Amino acid sequence: MDALLERQSIRRFETGKVGPDKIEAILRAGMSAPSGGNQRPWEFYVIRDKDMISRLAKSSPYSGCAAGADVVIVPCFLTKGLMYPELAYMDMSACVENMLVEITALGLGSVWLSIAPYEDRMKKVDEILGIGDRIRSFALIPVGYPAAKRSISDRYENGRVHEGY
Ligand SMILES: Cc1cc2nc3c(=O)[nH]c(=O)nc-3n(C[C@H](O)[C@H](O)[C@H](O)COP(=O)(O)O)c2cc1C
Repeated sequence: MDALLERQSIRRFETGKVGPDKIEAILRAGMSAPSGGNQRPWEFYVIRDKDMISRLAKSSPYSGCAAGADVVIVPCFLTKGLMYPELAYMDMSACVENMLVEITALGLGSVWLSIAPYEDRMKKVDEILGIGDRIRSFALIPVGYPAAKRSISDRYENGRVHEGY
């Protein structure tokens, strides 16, 4: 619960290697997400190559911060064979949120950089990864040690809650 409330978007990173054990923990959290009919539509690319990271960072006008990350994880989704393809984006969103919370719990930082549902961004990332029609890119998840954190404010708003019916 602490990590959930402490999570914040981190767009500036310190130099420092993120070890494979931490990456596996992040991926395990992602793969633990709920999904429609338990269809688990995800596959993941773990990118450490600096040239590839800098190309990924240019795939959207809002993804430049990925260039400073040690690792970029690209969650992708299956386009065929799903029982509930219309739920795939929701499944992927639950997966990404799980990853962001685990990244926070590990003392690392990240931010959800949107690729899907923007066709132009998806096409660029798919081309960089060399993936075909079977799977498509969903988001960029840069991972690194946070250069700075801001103080967290409580976002609970009682006015958004309707109860007593
Ligand atoms: C679906 C989604 C797409 C987002 N896309 C981007 C993005 O492309 N670039 C970016 O810098 N931040 C992106 N963000 C991060 C939001 O800007 C951020 O979550 C929001 O401002 C709240 O700040 P916080 O994450 O620090 O709580 C995205 C977040 C979500 C949930």
